Amino acid sequence: MSIARIGIVGSGIMGSGIAETAATSGFEVVLRSRNQSTADATLAAIEKSLNRQVEKGKRTETERDEALARVSGTSNLAALKDTDLVIESVVEDLAVKKELFNELDRITKDGTILATNTSTLPVVELAMQTGRPDRVCGVHFFNPAPVMSLVELVRPITASEETLAAVRTFAEACGKTPVTVKDQAGFVVNALLFPYLNNAVRLYEQGVASIADIDTAMRGGCGFPMGPFALLDLVGLDTSLAILDALYHEFKDPNYAAVPLLRRMVAAELLGRKSGQGFFDYRS
Ligand code: CAA
Repeated sequence: MSIARIGIVGSGIMGSGIAETAATSGFEVVLRSRNQSTADATLAAIEKSLNRQVEKGKRTETERDEALARVSGTSNLAALKDTDLVIESVVEDLAVKKELFNELDRITKDGTILATNTSTLPVVELAMQTGRPDRVCGVHFFNPAPVMSLVELVRPITASEETLAAVRTFAEACGKTPVTVKDQAGFVVNALLFPYLNNAVRLYEQGVASIADIDTAMRGGCGFPMGPFALLDLVGLDTSLAILDALYHEFKDPNYAAVPLLRRMVAAELLGRKSGQGFFDYRS
């Protein structure tokens, strides 16, 4: 099970970041978006990110050009036929992902490993949509994917050792440190992180401190690189709400019940960086 050619489905923050990571690590990448214009926009975003790295002296122009030459964008799922590993990174909606896995199973060659970047949904349910449940697993990158060193390697009860080993080798070749986790909502990081982020919103609702001061407190008091509100804005409030809802659905633990303000902000389309405004304003 050697992996050289990667398919990425989804062109959001994570799909784009994973594509950049794989391309700069020497893998051929086919990025599939729902339409050609969003695929093109994602390729442009990857180019911009690589240009910044060249300006900072972290990459040479040749490395940038070689990485860009390895990525192509398409709106056609069938273009993923000959990939060795597909990483799905579409919206955190089980019905959408199930349909996609069903389609990927029909389209890709027999040996292709199908992986999901989900952070909370049951990977085994995606595996069972396919005729190859032994070749389905989770590979959970963190935001921003080119920078964060962790990958959670999610082992559904259906996956084979060979599949896990091949995806581990891929993650390591991307310069990441994988940890193997059980197929349970939130895995390790989000199971611990999201009660904290949710409780930060609760503290603000209770009037304990301002948004800026809560962020300052957690940076200065705990040494975190970002405060909880800056991090919620980075992850996206819609994604954060979907994660909390999935955690609550699985465990019925009140710690995971999304604080009302978070739900209201998503309803108001205040989604964080991606929409220009969340807990902070990014429009200027
Ligand atoms: N793509 C590529 N490189 C990026 C980048 C991006 N999107 N964002 C930042 N970088 C690089 C910068 O180029 C910079 O590199 P150098 O220092 O080598 O020049 C480096 O990262 C640091 O960036 P900055 O100096 O601009 O800013 P910073 O020091 O504040 O770091 C950060 C930014 C890396 C995001 C840092 O604040 C951080 O680590 N924050 C915590 C992020 C985190 O917790 N992520 C996990 C979220 S949870 C999740 O993802 C799981 C889920 O399922 C939702």
